[in-house]
Amino acid sequence: MIEVRNLTKHYGPIAAINNVSFGVERGEVVGFLGPNGAGKSTTMRILSCFMPASSGSAKVAGYDVFSQSMEVRRRIGYLPENVPLYSDMRVAPYLDFVAEVKGIGRSERRRRVAEVMDRCLIADVQNRLIGRLSKGYRQRVGIAQAIVSDPEVLILDEPTLGLDPKQITEIRSLIKSLAGRHTVILSTHILPEVSMVCSAGRAVLPDGARPSPGGGPTRRGQRRDRPDPGRAARRAAGDERRRRDVRGGGPAEPRREVGDLPARGRPEVDAARTAA
Ligand SMILES: Nc1ncnc2c1ncn2[C@@H]1O[C@H](COP(=O)(O)OP(=O)(O)O)[C@@H](O)[C@H]1O
Ligand SMILES: [Mg+2]
Repeated sequence: MIEVRNLTKHYGPIAAINNVSFGVERGEVVGFLGPNGAGKSTTMRILSCFMPASSGSAKVAGYDVFSQSMEVRRRIGYLPENVPLYSDMRVAPYLDFVAEVKGIGRSERRRRVAEVMDRCLIADVQNRLIGRLSKGYRQRVGIAQAIVSDPEVLILDEPTLGLDPKQITEIRSLIKSLAGRHTVILSTHILPEVSMVCSAGRAVLPDGARPSPGGGPTRRGQRRDRPDPGRAARRAAGDERRRRDVRGGGPAEPRREVGDLPARGRPEVDAARTAA
C-alpha cells in the first residue's frame, strides 16, 4: 500500500533523509521509529504530497506521490506534527468543512462527521470551540479530520507528542481501533509505542543520524520487517548504536530491544523461541 524506494531529501546542504526504503502492506499499522531529527516528518510530508523528494520514489496505493499527487491525496488522511486546527471554529462545523473541502456531498458529510465523532469519542464536545479544548481532545479532532474522508491510508506524525500519560493511552487505543479499516503509518520516537500500537510490533527505522561530509546529518534507510530469530545474532553488533537511537523516550520508558518487537503476536516466532 505504501512503497518507498531510495527516498532522499536535501534542505540545502542538509540531507534530512538519505536513501530511505520501506514498504507497508494493506491494513497494517506500522511505526516509523527514530529520534528527533531522524527525518520522520520529512518522509511523511513527502508521502502526503506536501513537498517533493530530492530523489527516489514513493507510491501510495499504487500512485506516485509526485506525478499522481491528486490520486494520492484522495486516498490519504494526514495528521501533521503541528495540527492545523482552526481554533475559532466549533468541532462539528470544522469537520464538516474539512469533509466539504475533500469533496464529500452535504448529506454524506453529515453522516461521516457523526461517524468520525463517534469513533474518535468527541461527540460530547462537538459544539465546543476547538481553541478551548484540551490538547488530548484537539489531537482527537486532528485524527477525526484525517479520517473523515474514510481514506485508505493514514499518515500520523507523532500523534502522541505533547500529551499527558492518560491522553497518550487514549490516543494509542484510538489508533489501534483504526487498524484493518485503514493502512496506518505513524511516526514516533518512543520505542514501546510501537509494540503497543503497531501490527505485530512492526517498525521501520530511518536508522539514526550520522554526520555527512558536508556537515549535515545523513541516514541509511532500512526495512526491518519481520526478522526471524536467527537474524538477532547478526544484528547484535549494530544493536548498541540502534538502542541509543531508539531510547528517545527518555528514562521513564522501559528499555526494550528492537529485535524483541516483531516477535510479539507471531506464533511461528514465539514457537521458535520456545524451542531454542
Ligand atoms: N524546512 C527545513 N529546512 C531545513 N532543514 C530542515 C527542515 N525541516 C527539517 N530539517 C532538518 O532535517 C532533519 C530531519 O528533520 P525532520 O524530518 O523534522 O525529523 P524528525 O521528524 O524525525 O524529527 C533535521 O536535521 C532538521 O533540522
Ligand atoms: Mg518530526
